Amino acid sequence: MALQSLLCLALFCLTAAAAANDPAWQGAAAKNILKQQPKSLAEQAISDAGFFPHYLGPIIDVQNAGVKGEVYFVNSTTIKIAGLTLPTGPPAPLFWVDYHHLLSGQGVHLPSDKYGYNILGTYDNEDVYVTIPVSDQFPTVLSYKSFGVWCAKFFVNFAYISWQ
Ligand SMILES: *[C@@H]1O[C@H](CO)[C@@H](O)[C@H](O)[C@H]1NC(C)=O
Repeated sequence: MALQSLLCLALFCLTAAAAANDPAWQGAAAKNILKQQPKSLAEQAISDAGFFPHYLGPIIDVQNAGVKGEVYFVNSTTIKIAGLTLPTGPPAPLFWVDYHHLLSGQGVHLPSDKYGYNILGTYDNEDVYVTIPVSDQFPTVLSYKSFGVWCAKFFVNFAYISWQ
């Protein structure tokens, strides 16, 4: 019995040592460490004083309606949509920041310089800035999860981009 245990232990040690020296295993370990690396945008913003301005990417034209634009965080409370094109079509479109990764209607309607708090009219390749309301619970744009054009009539995500 004792000998058997000893043999088992020896075999275990040999296997473990072999695994530790196996480059494939080391590669997997390295990948696991790397997997833990990506930080959320909120963490990046906290650790990187130069985080803003931050380019997010093109707005996603969910309904294939011809909505276009490149979305940026100008700073912690301002979003810029560079070259926004919003054709007529979406009924009752509003600029919107949402608490969810897809626009859900749970969030805040953002006024625009051009249309105020009214329903949005068209934009034709225009640079647009919108300001995020801040509070203790939502201190920066990163407290929200997505931004876009929300169709307030049919409760539809018209075009959006998400982060975090
Ligand atoms: C963010 O940028 C906008 C537009 O340039 C500016 O009006 C606003 O004061 C800035 N806010 C902060 C917190 O820096």
